[in-house]
Amino acid sequence: MLDQSPNRPALPAEIARRRTFAIISHPDAGKTTLTEKFLLFGGAIQMAGQVRAKGEARRTRSDFMQMEKDRGISVSASAMSFDYGKFRFNLVDTPGHSDFSEDTYRTLTAVDAAVMVIDGAKGVESQTQKLFEVCRLRDLPILTFCNKMDREARETFEIIDEIQENLAIDVTPASWPIGMGREFIGCYDMLNDRLELMDRADRNRVAESIRIDGLDDPKMEQYVPPQLLEKLREEVEMARALLPALNPQSVLEGHMTPIWFGSAINSFGVKELMDGIGRYGPEPQPQSATPRQIAPEEDKVTGFVFKVQANMDPKHRDRVAFVRLASGHFMRGMKLTHVRSKKPMAITNPVLFLAADRELAEEAWAGDIIGIPNHGQLRIGDTLTEGEALKVTGIPSFAPELLQGVRAGDPMKAKHLEKALMQFAEEGAAKVFKPMIGSGFIVGVVGALQFEVLGSRIELEYGLPVRFEASQFTSARWVHGPREAVDKLVNANKQHIGYDHDGDVVYLTRLQWDIDRIVRDYPEITLSATKEMM
Ligand code: G4P
Repeated sequence: MLDQSPNRPALPAEIARRRTFAIISHPDAGKTTLTEKFLLFGGAIQMAGQVRAKGEARRTRSDFMQMEKDRGISVSASAMSFDYGKFRFNLVDTPGHSDFSEDTYRTLTAVDAAVMVIDGAKGVESQTQKLFEVCRLRDLPILTFCNKMDREARETFEIIDEIQENLAIDVTPASWPIGMGREFIGCYDMLNDRLELMDRADRNRVAESIRIDGLDDPKMEQYVPPQLLEKLREEVEMARALLPALNPQSVLEGHMTPIWFGSAINSFGVKELMDGIGRYGPEPQPQSATPRQIAPEEDKVTGFVFKVQANMDPKHRDRVAFVRLASGHFMRGMKLTHVRSKKPMAITNPVLFLAADRELAEEAWAGDIIGIPNHGQLRIGDTLTEGEALKVTGIPSFAPELLQGVRAGDPMKAKHLEKALMQFAEEGAAKVFKPMIGSGFIVGVVGALQFEVLGSRIELEYGLPVRFEASQFTSARWVHGPREAVDKLVNANKQHIGYDHDGDVVYLTRLQWDIDRIVRDYPEITLSATKEMM
């Protein structure tokens, strides 16, 4: 067993013990169940509930929020913190619906690692693949949990091969399943030479762990039926010969993923995974920023907003900005500088999302996620510091892939609609463009389901029924260039021009041809598909 973490030395102990991560998976692979077991073993809830909403409804908003409703436990909609052994885990939610959204991407900018959950029968599914690719862009370390081994699953080698091939990452088995489906009895812990047996009788109980002296230990025969034991010995021998051994540094660099096998619903394999997150998962990492990078161990506090959630309480138009602390030791009541506006902000009522309860955060450390209630000053991408003019980078806004016009059902309510749309744009839930010519707004999203979510939220939170209608435009590009060149382009293409919620110029496109034409005719202009959030 490794007794020291392969992370960078010299982080203060409070920071070094933090593990901030998200779970990525395809719907139905078991993310919610696994989260629940994390909370159970993290002491945040007493009993994993069996209540769950069925169908799509539960996927349209945060799974955590739905859990709060379904199970009567108080969890935040976006982040949860709990202790596990000597570690403090900060688990950040990725939205559960199957449309890829920017929200998900930005969530992944706030974590240091991801746990990838796959279904043992289905392998790498489409949403997992997409999310994985986002993690890859940042070389995020990934730990893999292959779930539902209590059901008929694929052969272990086949699962590992599929991950290696589809995701182009080295896979090293941290455990090896013994049997599968009804015959599944547990796993051989390849890192610690232990036998972990599943308890089918009590789903919330931690399985028995038996220390053995290698696979040839006669004790194995007491617990593993002969035909399974023979297969296990063969497979483990092959795995050790053919698959790479665990290399902690390679895991931290995102080139290798250790895989644990288990059954979340039976609480099996979950603790081993949690131990793995502690031991091989990264400590809080440095954050890219201009004009310089931020290191977690710096004394001064810095943080950045990666998510804004409006209307958590529909009766008050409050907003909570979720801030990932990038450095330092934060204390409640601190005055931080809001770098974009250069104004000081006293953070008097920050919220720490301890899963057992939502608590006032008296203190927090680099790696933690705190919620700051505010009235709209804090936007996605904003940086907070103790005075230095740092700007966190790498939190992009994507060009939408689907555009529709939107109108209020009642034309008298156009002003209200504008307010609602601006709010959602600032929250990052959609792009909103005001066309230069004509009335109404154009809303842009990355996945079709976002229109539905937006429509129902506008109705629910603002009491405004809305109509979406087809738009001639299919995408949008932010326009950059010298002032004169931009003015020239705007004046000659008024029917294509719109303004986003920050007032920045966008070029609305119908076809790729539109873009090609601008590139050809306006050499000084760049059209950009992403915009750094300011
Ligand atoms: P998600 O958040 O990734 O969408 O998945 P979720 O945890 O909701 O799990 C999806 C389904 O898979 C659930 O069944 C859940 O009970 C089941 N499941 C999760 N882990 C395991 C496991 O280890 N083994 C088996 N056999 N099933 C597992 P459901 O039918 O949608 O809900 P329910 O009626 O079981 O509550």
